[in-house]
Amino acid sequence: MAHSGNILVTGGAGFIGSNFIRYVLEKTAFKGRMINLDKLTYAGNPENLSDVAKAYKGRYVFVKGDICDFKLVGQLFKKYQPSMVAHFAAESHVDRSIFGPKDFIETNVNGTFSMLEAARNFWNGRSDVRFHHISTDEVYGSLGRTGAFSETTPYDPRSPYSASKASSDHIARAYFHTYGLPVSISNCSNNYGPRHYPEKLIPLLILNALEGKPLPVYGDGKNVRDWLYVEDHCSAIWRILLRGEAGRTYNIGGGCELKNIDVVRSVCRLLERVRPSASNAALKGGSYSDLITFVKDRPGHDRRYAINSSRIRRELGWKPAHDFEAGLAATVDWYLKNPAWLAAVRRASYSEWLKKNYASRK
Ligand code: NAD
Ligand code: DAU
Repeated sequence: MAHSGNILVTGGAGFIGSNFIRYVLEKTAFKGRMINLDKLTYAGNPENLSDVAKAYKGRYVFVKGDICDFKLVGQLFKKYQPSMVAHFAAESHVDRSIFGPKDFIETNVNGTFSMLEAARNFWNGRSDVRFHHISTDEVYGSLGRTGAFSETTPYDPRSPYSASKASSDHIARAYFHTYGLPVSISNCSNNYGPRHYPEKLIPLLILNALEGKPLPVYGDGKNVRDWLYVEDHCSAIWRILLRGEAGRTYNIGGGCELKNIDVVRSVCRLLERVRPSASNAALKGGSYSDLITFVKDRPGHDRRYAINSSRIRRELGWKPAHDFEAGLAATVDWYLKNPAWLAAVRRASYSEWLKKNYASRK
């Protein structure tokens, strides 16, 4: 699939955005320029793309800035004339939204509005362009024991994070219906993989386990998430950008439902294989699974998510290329091989946040 126009990516220094930029530049026939607008919040890390910046000098452009800065966004449209926008930038962590929702409303709602409005002004009725809004399955709320979210499931967000993403989805859809802006939306399940900020479950488990720290499991550990390897999410977004229909929503999921406690056990098992606890001094003779610690539950913790992704599979021929075992092995391998990335992340606000978070869960 070839595309030669320019793409404006927002939030490209974060987890999924950086994997997306890498995927498109390294693994597709894309020939244009990739402009990455990112505010570099605690979650944005230029190190995620330092090698890409060198290898694709001239085709990859980084701009530090806020998506809420309407003037700046307008200038970027004028300067780089993108024919596509991949809008990732957001505050993304549910726990943080519970502690402090303000940034979530500001970036996720107002920031998305600013991006849509700038695109509408610049594209001015063009239909050969695309604004793709990246969203989450959390907008659909929580499932019981059976069933899965489809594109027609009514919205029922429960956390400040999911409510802010639901608002942004509605605004994006309104721009399609009201102004004819060629908008598509995807709602994806839980991603995991390289460059995942270690406040989220899987990277947190890997790093804590290696350091002999507790592996915190919220509540009874039986909440279910549907896991997708990040590169598979990126390939789905690329397909939607090139072949998806404007005005359409696509659910993306791995078809890989797991209870949190089973994810924790899988990480422990894998680490025993690749970095046996017996040879890890931080474990002091214990095993990784000895570190499992049940802690106070997340308020309003959604019980179960599962995605029905038959639309994107059927209409766009997408399917994930990694099963959970292979994806988790690749993820653990990446964290073991990138201690400098970890050290840099740890030096930032990471430990301060975790300390505050843990104190409130005892
Ligand atoms: P992340 O927190 O790792 O990265 C977010 C990025 O956005 C960071 O680089 C940050 O600096 C940037 N950013 C934040 N506020 C900004 C602002 N005001 N202006 C410019 N840049 C700003 O998030 P992620 O996990 O990579 O998620 C990316 C997108 O995918 C989000 O929209 C999220 O809702 C969605 N999503 C994530 C998952 C998941 O499992 N991580 C699943 C489904 C959907
Ligand atoms: O479903 C998609 C969503 O997945 C995205 O929209 C969000 O941006 C992304 O952060 C993720 O949200 P979750 O809340 O599901 O992810 P998190 O990694 O925070 O938690 C996964 C599950 O693990 C959840 O049930 C809470 C639980 N958990 C989490 C942490 C951080 C624990 O049991 N212990 C922990 O320490």
